Amino acid sequence: MPRITDRTILIVGASSGIGAEVARQLAHGGNRLVLTARRAPELAAVAKDVRAAGSACLDIAADALDPRASADVVTAAVEEYGSVDVALLNAGQGPDMSMDQVSVADVSRITALNYDVVVNYLIPLIAQMGSQRNGGLIAHTNSLAGLMGIPRQGPYSAAKAAARTLIDAARIELAPRGVRFTSIHPGFVATERISGDGLPKPFQISQERAARHVVRALEREPAQSYFPWPTAALVRTLRALPTSVSSLVLRKLASR
Ligand SMILES: NC(=O)c1ccc[n+]([C@@H]2O[C@H](COP(=O)([O-])OP(=O)(O)OC[C@H]3O[C@@H](n4cnc5c(N)ncnc54)[C@H](OP(=O)(O)O)[C@@H]3O)[C@@H](O)[C@H]2O)c1
Repeated sequence: MPRITDRTILIVGASSGIGAEVARQLAHGGNRLVLTARRAPELAAVAKDVRAAGSACLDIAADALDPRASADVVTAAVEEYGSVDVALLNAGQGPDMSMDQVSVADVSRITALNYDVVVNYLIPLIAQMGSQRNGGLIAHTNSLAGLMGIPRQGPYSAAKAAARTLIDAARIELAPRGVRFTSIHPGFVATERISGDGLPKPFQISQERAARHVVRALEREPAQSYFPWPTAALVRTLRALPTSVSSLVLRKLASR
C-alpha cells in the first residue's frame, strides 16, 4: 500500500510500461489519478484497473509533443479535481541508434520524444503548482543513460541529460514557491517496448520492481533517485574513471 494517499496525481505516459504500473500501484492509495498518453484503448484499460482498485481516474488521450494539448490536460485535471499535487512526467523512448547511422531528423525526433515532452508539461505545471497553497511535486522519469553518453543511445542520453539539467535549475528557482522536483534514473527495465531491441541490458529489473522504486521516490521526494543499485554503482564508477578507461568499458559493454 503506497504512503501517497488522497492526492491528485498526473501521470504522463501511463498507457504501458513503468507509467501504467505506477498508476496501478498508486491506485491502492485512494488517490485521484489523471492518466494521459496517445493510445486511448491502452490508457482506458489502465484507468479501468485504477478505478477497480479504489481510486478516481480521468484518462485523456493526448500527444505530449503538442504544447497546447499538454497544457489542456493540466487544465482538465484542475477542472476535475481542483489541483495537481503530484505529476510524473514519464513519456519517453530510447531506441538503439548508432551515431554513424542516425540522420539529423532522427536526433531531432529523439530529442522531442524525451525533452520536448517534458518541457510541454513542465511549464504549465510550474504555473499551476506555483499558484497552489501547498505547491506540488514534479517528478521526471529520466534514466541512468542520462548521466553519461551511452554508446548506441547517444541522442537519448543527450535528451535525458538536458531534461535533468533543466529540472535541476527549476528545483532551485521554485523552492520558495513550494514546487519540488525529483529526477528518477532507472537502469534497464523489462518493458514490452524495449524487449527485442538488441541492446545488452545488464542488471535488468521487472517493470513492477521499477514502479515500486518510482513510487518510493514520489513518497520521499529526493532530488535524484537512482536504481537498481548495481547499474547505478557501475555508472557512478564509470563517471569517476578517466575517460580513456571508461570508454574502453563502455565499448565492451555495447558490443556484447
Ligand atoms: N525501460 C527501460 O529500460 C527504461 C530505462 C530507463 C528509463 N526509462 C524511461 O522510462 C519511461 C517509460 O518508459 P517505458 O520503458 O515504461 O516504455 P513505454 O511502455 O513505451 O512507456 C512510455 C509511455 O510514454 C507514452 N508516450 C510516449 N510518447 C508520448 C507522447 N508523445 N505523448 C504522450 N505519451 C507518450 C507511451 O504511450 P503512448 O505510446 O500511448 O503515447 C507510454 O505510455 C521513459 O521516459 C523511458 O525513457 C525506461
